[in-house]
Amino acid sequence: MAQFRLPANSVIKSGQPINHAEGKNVKQFEVYRWDPETPDNPRRDIYEIDLDQCGPMVLDALIKIKSDIDPTLTFRRSCREGICGSCAMNINGTNTLACTKPIADIKGKVKVHPLPHVEVIKDLVPDLSYFYAQYTAIKPWMQTQTTLPPDREALQSKEDRAKLDGLYECILCACCSTSCPSYWWNGDRFLGPAVLLQAQRWIVDSRDENAGERLDQLEDPFRLFRCHTIMNCSYTCPKGLNPSKAIAEIKKELVHRK
Ligand code: SF4
Ligand code: SF4
Ligand code: FES
Repeated sequence: MAQFRLPANSVIKSGQPINHAEGKNVKQFEVYRWDPETPDNPRRDIYEIDLDQCGPMVLDALIKIKSDIDPTLTFRRSCREGICGSCAMNINGTNTLACTKPIADIKGKVKVHPLPHVEVIKDLVPDLSYFYAQYTAIKPWMQTQTTLPPDREALQSKEDRAKLDGLYECILCACCSTSCPSYWWNGDRFLGPAVLLQAQRWIVDSRDENAGERLDQLEDPFRLFRCHTIMNCSYTCPKGLNPSKAIAEIKKELVHRK
């Protein structure tokens, strides 16, 4: 796995804001910068925003910085309502979604870094290629041996459908995996909480007929068992999910099938 670039190494170059905002409700935003095309890396830039002229969420402030102050600032976003997972970043020490994080919840300066312990492509954009490759490895689609009738959907009872609650809502933002110390240390072999939660989503799906093979694939000292129940994943999930519980369920299923 490639070397991580740790945001903690970044320096504030001048300590002075890039701009000075007027108004009664000015807030400073300190933002991690890393640009492969400049030698000046990494650094943190400080911007001032008049909150009376800005939307309520941290993403609103980043969009305002990009539109009005510094068009070079780079970050991902799409839905703006906690659905796509693309604006995941570290805000004042916690991995979360910038679009659902209210600025009003943060006392003092707002400090924005990319998700930790993953390669940075530019500024707040992490390279999640390996994370997605791990997701692909668990075959996140329905697998059946029985041929389904072509003229109807694959049905399940209300009770079986309810087993997917707390799993299907995952938006693959990677906040949990990048907050997990076991994933920081063994991310090349440990699948991490997000992907394991997704694995459990398919294992418990009554319509899927490949739970046995899915469990075989996870029965490995690294892929699953590097989870040491540290629980950072569940504390940080911006969708209120509990990957740690999902992992515990997989471990239980492996024990019970013996
Ligand atoms: S479990 Fe939560 S934190 Fe982890 S990827 Fe899914 S939505 Fe994001
Ligand atoms: S519970 Fe497991 S997956 Fe979640 S943070 Fe801890 S070690 Fe990582
Ligand atoms: S922009 Fe889609 S989750 Fe934040």
